[in-house]
Amino acid sequence: MPIRGKPQLAASILLLIAGQSASWLSPVLHVQDGKYLTKALKDIPLVKSVRERLHAAWSELPLQVQEAPAYQDLRAFTMARFPGGAHMLPSPSRGLLLRRLCTAFEARSVLEVGTFTGYSALCFAEAGAQVLSIERCKLQAAAAREILTQTLPRRDISQAAVEVRRGFASDVLPELAGSETYDLIHLDAGMKSYMQFLDLALGGGLLAESGVVLADNVLFRGMVTNASARVGGRFQRIAESLHSFNVRYLQEDPRTQGVILPHDDGLAVIWPRT
Ligand SMILES: C[S@@+](CC[C@H](N)C(=O)[O-])C[C@H]1O[C@@H](n2cnc3c(N)ncnc32)[C@H](O)[C@@H]1O
Repeated sequence: MPIRGKPQLAASILLLIAGQSASWLSPVLHVQDGKYLTKALKDIPLVKSVRERLHAAWSELPLQVQEAPAYQDLRAFTMARFPGGAHMLPSPSRGLLLRRLCTAFEARSVLEVGTFTGYSALCFAEAGAQVLSIERCKLQAAAAREILTQTLPRRDISQAAVEVRRGFASDVLPELAGSETYDLIHLDAGMKSYMQFLDLALGGGLLAESGVVLADNVLFRGMVTNASARVGGRFQRIAESLHSFNVRYLQEDPRTQGVILPHDDGLAVIWPRT
């Protein structure tokens, strides 16, 4: 559900006409008093280094991206092996955004919740990170290992750059606590449990001091920012959980702050409050 592009283009043109630099324009969603406000990066009080990193990753992100053949093959493998799950794959544009964020935040180690067939893990490895990715499903963990064994060398990446750990995040995260810290944590599974996962990660000291958390789907089909779009049942419960997650970690929690990039289904970028 890419909802970015035109507003940013219009705003960029306005600034250029006004003779100013468009450099800090990139619109993001800022949570304030439980409400979602669209703001330019320049209008949000952020430490300079975070603003610069966000800008580097998000500014002028193309929505149409030509995937490298290895990524295309991973996508084709996934669609053949899990035809009903292909919607879980990141878009090519999201893949680029993940690579850019990993590079901009200089993440050398990534902890991921939700491997599926390893597309995002490949993106982080491509950006130079060592990735530990957790997957609860035996078939999907095996498929990810199989396709990554073929794909990593095609991108000149060591096989050791991605480890797929089979297990439930709620079991694996406490096991990892106290062992090492990660520069980037990617939440991409079990949307109703994001709060539990991030609490386990933060409580277990898994996020590096200058680390960053990326949480996917935080706008969930438009139902998070627009309560009247919630249709009841399971989707409503997911949207409500994600809204609570956003309000807590982007606004209320004294440990963290963040913004939402309105890209595809929404990507929260969260970092430790200084
Ligand atoms: C949206 S997909 C992940 C997509 C993946 N990041 C990619 O780039 O293709 C979510 C995956 O998380 C797994 N999953 C769901 N709940 C989980 C949990 N509690 N712990 C670990 N994995 C989980 C699912 O089996 C599924 O493969």
